[in-house]
Order: sequence, then C-alpha cells, then structure tokens
Amino acid sequence: MRLQGGAGNQWECLMANEGKVKVIRSIQEMQSIARELRSKGERIGFVPTMGYLHRGHLNLIETARDKADKVVVSIFVNRIQFGPNEDFQRYPHDFDHDLAACEEAGVDYIFYPEEEEMYPKGYSTYINEEACSKRLCGISRPHHFRCVLTVVGKLFNIVQPDFAVFGQKDAQQAAVIKKMAADLHLSIEIIVNRTIREEDGLAMSSRNAYLTSRQREDAGVIYQALQKAKELVDSGIVNTDRVQAETSNILQSKRRLRVIYVEIVNPETMEPIKEIVSGKSLLAVAVWVDEVRLIDNILL
Ligand code: PAF
Repeated sequence: MRLQGGAGNQWECLMANEGKVKVIRSIQEMQSIARELRSKGERIGFVPTMGYLHRGHLNLIETARDKADKVVVSIFVNRIQFGPNEDFQRYPHDFDHDLAACEEAGVDYIFYPEEEEMYPKGYSTYINEEACSKRLCGISRPHHFRCVLTVVGKLFNIVQPDFAVFGQKDAQQAAVIKKMAADLHLSIEIIVNRTIREEDGLAMSSRNAYLTSRQREDAGVIYQALQKAKELVDSGIVNTDRVQAETSNILQSKRRLRVIYVEIVNPETMEPIKEIVSGKSLLAVAVWVDEVRLIDNILL
C-alpha cells in the first residue's frame, strides 16, 4: 500500500497495491469524488460498516455491486454509539483484512476517516428519532440510535449515495434509518438484505469474534429459539405472550445466556403487538452470552 498526497488539496489518499480500491481518508476528498461520479450520472451504492468484515458485510457489498456503477464502503468504528461500559475499546479491527476483502468484492472506494475528521473538537449536532429508536435495544442502550443516526446521516452527506444497504440482523437499526430517510426527505433508497448465518444458524456479527468455543456453542440456541417460534406460529398459534414465553424458555435453557428482551413487534415501528399476523410480525431478541451482547430476529 502506498501513501500519496491528495490531488490538489491537503488531504491524503491511500491506494491499494493493485490500485483498484481507493482508500479515502478525508471528507472533502470523498465528497468531491461523489460529486464527480454523480455529475457523470454514475449510480453510487453505499455500505456503511464498522469494519472487521465478514460474509454478512460481503453480502451487502454484493447487492451494492449488482445495483450500482460505483460501490463505496465506509469503515469507521463510531465511538459515540457505544455506551460507557460497552465494547468500544475491544471492538475487533483488521484493516488489511478489510482492504483485501473489499478488493476481492469489487469495491471502488473505502471511506476510512479518523475520528477527528468525523467529530472535530466542538462537534455538537445529533439526529434523534423519537419513537422507533426508543424501543427494544433503545431501552438498554438509550443513546445508541441517536449516535447511529448521526453517523449514518453524516456518512450519507459525505458519500452522497443513491442507495445504501443494511442487514436485517440489525432490524431496529434498519427501521430507524428508514424512518430518518423518510422524515428528512433524503433521496436515498434504503435496502435491507436478509440475515447471513453460520452453519448452525447463528447470525453473522463482528461480535461473534468475542465468543469462546463454549459460548459459541451456547449461542447456537438463539436461532433454534427463533425457529421454534416460527414453527409455533406456522402451526396456528397467534398469541404473542405464548410465543414470547416459549422463546425465552429456550434461550434460558443455556446457562451462559441471559435474556435482555424477547419481543414480538411491528417490523416498521418496533411497537409491541398483541396478536401475531403472519408476515407482519417480527420476533426480536437480545441476549447476553456471558459478557457478549448478541441480537437476532425473525419475521413470523
Ligand atoms: O451496523 C453498523 O455497523 C453500524 O451501526 C453503522 C451502521 C456502520 C453505523 O456506525
């Protein structure tokens, strides 16, 4: 990888060996690239990430690749969306791996800013969604979605995409981002891809890297619980309490798991629902596997 000065400005731009993926470190540079692409009528597909890319991310990139002329992936671990006792300090990262993965996946640009670039001293503007974001994960992580929306809103302004791709694993995040896009009249299509899973059904997540082999084994029960709930609904049970209770019981059958929430909600608003309507009810769960927080969901 070689370091080179920015074209005509003070910023720097890193180029991958093969010269295919361009790594952009400055907002100004990224914005001017986006402007140029748009002026040529090129369609920009965007995949925002916090790095440590896995097959789930690659699936999002693949969708972007299929629908766009140019694909931008951002890699930025957004410190502010982590609570004070959360895992920011140990969040996994491996830029060389991510660079190679992006190269392989046909990404055109990686936007990889420093924290000071995104949040210079004196930064004080945030985006707050006040309904959907307050439920489920919003209860135990009260500032999380405000900070996710803030960084995603900033990234949208920097990358200026025609569309952005997110994963269904983070169903509430996707719903909150869709709401922001609608409420703020952003002309950016929000695409949500299905959850990519390991062989035993565990949803792909960068946080899976924290799990010891025993914890990893126990975490497999999350998908089993979701599937059991789906079976119950498919067999005609529509009572929310019953399905939630059965799901919790399965999760709690593993000693290392502690339930944070098990809720059946409207998939757009995350509002709790009383009676399950097939295809319109989302079962969302969050658990601790010892000290590792995992989430997952299934459309019932
Ligand atoms: O889902 C993530 O990785 C992050 O929440 C996101 C959307 C990149 C914002 O930091």
